[in-house]
Amino acid sequence: MKVTKLLVRLLGFLVVLVLVGSGFAQKAPEGPILLKNAPMGAVKFDHPAHTKVAGKCEICHHASKPQKPAKSPQEACTDCHTNPATPPVTTKLQAAFHNPTASAGLCIDCHKTENSQGKAAPVKCADCHKKTNA
Ligand code: HEC
Ligand code: HEC
Ligand code: HEC
Ligand code: HEC
Repeated sequence: MKVTKLLVRLLGFLVVLVLVGSGFAQKAPEGPILLKNAPMGAVKFDHPAHTKVAGKCEICHHASKPQKPAKSPQEACTDCHTNPATPPVTTKLQAAFHNPTASAGLCIDCHKTENSQGKAAPVKCADCHKKTNA
């Protein structure tokens, strides 16, 4: 029966869609990401190097929150964190990455820890935000 075959195929396709859309991690980006929203200069973020240092995705990609459920496990931060903040999300773009003085936040906290152990990770504004990053 043609119709049953079609239905079975459709069902199979739906199952695959659901699986892909749910728990599975997306493929991590294979090159640097340019975050260009800040007027003071774009930030070149070496995703592969950071995946190695951090060890697991969840260090940066927080779990889906009820206020605005994530469409995928590692959805872009900038889909939800904007300037100004877009309700229902209350954490604006800058706050998603660091506080106004860049003395704390996801990126800065780890950089400070790493630097105390002899690394040279950027903590000054102009060492992350560069007009030359195009
Ligand atoms: C040190 C922090 C950090 C770690 C660890 C990390 N990511 Fe990311 N990831 C980011 C940032 C920052 C972006 C850029 C977000 C944006 O463009 O708004 C990003 C972007 C992505 C994107 C692109 C999203 C999009 O739609 O543009 C994917 C996919 C992704 N990460 C997957 C992963 C996976 C899988 C892992 C673990 C193997 C991982 N990430 C670990 C910080 C991190
Ligand atoms: C699907 C939407 C979504 C995505 C994608 C997303 N967030 Fe969030 N984030 C939220 C919501 C909702 C909250 C809860 C507080 C609020 O309403 O702002 C939050 C809170 C935060 C906070 C405040 C501390 C906390 O945990 O409550 C930080 C920092 C943060 N996100 C950083 C990030 C970073 C960095 C990324 C990307 C690696 C990211 N977020 C991706 C929606 C998102
Ligand atoms: C788990 C720890 C950790 C987190 C979280 C982290 N970093 Fe880093 N970052 C490092 C280390 C380690 C280095 C390399 C320092 C060295 O080479 O001595 C580094 C280097 C950098 C550099 C300079 C080298 C390069 O890749 O061009 C930039 C820019 C940078 N990080 C941006 C960020 C941003 C933006 C975030 C937040 C989204 C972030 N980092 C989060 C550990 C971290
Ligand atoms: C470790 C890297 C890092 C350092 C150091 C850093 N920033 Fe950022 N900052 C980021 C990232 C990543 C973003 C998100 C950029 C994007 O989405 O394009 C951001 C976003 C911002 C934004 C939000 C831009 C907007 O349009 O809403 C402002 C403002 C900002 N930073 C100012 C500063 C200032 C001022 C300093 C120094 C006191 C500083 N940053 C230091 C990485 C850094």
